[in-house]
Amino acid sequence: MPTLVIEGSQWGDEGKGKITDYYSQGADVVVRSQGGNNAGHTITINGEKFALRSIPSGIFNPKTKNILANGMVINPKQLLEELHTLESRGITDYKLYISNRAHVVLPYHEILDGLYESFKGNHKIGTTKRGIGPCYSDKANRIGIRMGSFIDEDEFLVALDEALKIKNEELRMFGISPLDKMEIFNEYKAYAMEIKKFVCDTSILIEDEIEKGSKILFEGAQGVMLCIEHGTYPYVTSSSPTASAVPLDSGIAPRYIDNVLGICKAYTTRVGEGAFPTEIEGNLASYIRERGHEYGTVTKRPRRIGWIDAVSLNYARRVSGINYLALMLLDVLSGLDEIKICYKYELDGKAIDYVPSTIKELERVKPIYLTMPGWNDDITNIKKFEGLPENAKAYIKKLEELTKTKVALISVGPDRKQTIEIMNIF
Ligand code: IMP
Repeated sequence: MPTLVIEGSQWGDEGKGKITDYYSQGADVVVRSQGGNNAGHTITINGEKFALRSIPSGIFNPKTKNILANGMVINPKQLLEELHTLESRGITDYKLYISNRAHVVLPYHEILDGLYESFKGNHKIGTTKRGIGPCYSDKANRIGIRMGSFIDEDEFLVALDEALKIKNEELRMFGISPLDKMEIFNEYKAYAMEIKKFVCDTSILIEDEIEKGSKILFEGAQGVMLCIEHGTYPYVTSSSPTASAVPLDSGIAPRYIDNVLGICKAYTTRVGEGAFPTEIEGNLASYIRERGHEYGTVTKRPRRIGWIDAVSLNYARRVSGINYLALMLLDVLSGLDEIKICYKYELDGKAIDYVPSTIKELERVKPIYLTMPGWNDDITNIKKFEGLPENAKAYIKKLEELTKTKVALISVGPDRKQTIEIMNIF
């Protein structure tokens, strides 16, 4: 199958970077189609760790074309920092393309992100404060600045002038001094000049590659439960990390999507605020957090920990088209006497098997668990499904049954080599 979408099936941070990197070995093209530097993908290559934010995980392969497509919001200053860091670590032979229709994150987006959060008080979203929401709002409000205009000095100055008329009023409302147009312009036009060589119509590029029969990976950021449409609104991000959004956000026809691989941890994590039905606390949560290094790549916040939630995974499968799962961090669960899987919720005394639409209801649900026996063996060097402990195999089989999805890959450690491939889907 020549195209594969990789998407988070929980609340992000499932390990998409590792799996994209795993498949990018054989990919001709890797596309990021939504989000921006709110994402943080960690990749370990030969024991060396790399943290990516806006750049696709195919960047380490000199032959792979890496595309930042139209649905993304791109912070040029951060993008260049990311690129320079990679270059200083020897990644100098790469192919990068940026859509001329992607939106640009500017300083007022980050400032407003922080201000909205502080004004929301107890109802804050817990955003990454990277200006993602305000940039997507400007896009919808038709006062955003796209890459194509950004790299043209005259157009950029006019667009910035227009945007600042509104943005500075907004800042004034919050009691913040207005931003100086020329200061932003002079700093950012230098970034624009450096980025210009990467900017093109990426929709044409992707279609050409599809027509040639190239293998294309679409690398999702965040996760289905953070989707602006289907996630736990309003505690979500401002784009749609689903496979359904990929064609729109990368300028291709829906018929070109072959397989959709949902990445999920063998447990669940969440950063930021919002309902989390299977959340656990105390020693057990600390055990999992420390073994799984569950601290945010972008913000370093400790992640909230919970058991795996088959109700929300099944929901993610339905709304986003997942047909395979990659089960990540299975090794983290080694050493536990028992492992739980949430297979239903109890809502006001009734058992339900769907995700309620309101936060109030989702906050009231209580998880109904199946308890399965754990395993003590170190599984970090296991290469085949058959080599896993019987209890681990039983856990995976049960998960497949409850989520109506086949597990195609299992990850038992951070390195590329610590991956058990059950099925070849790309
Ligand atoms: P924003 O995307 O910065 O606006 O943040 C909105 C919500 O999405 C917050 O709860 C963030 O913690 C969460 N979020 C955004 N990006 C990621 C990610 O890559 N992984 C996990 N959570 C994320």
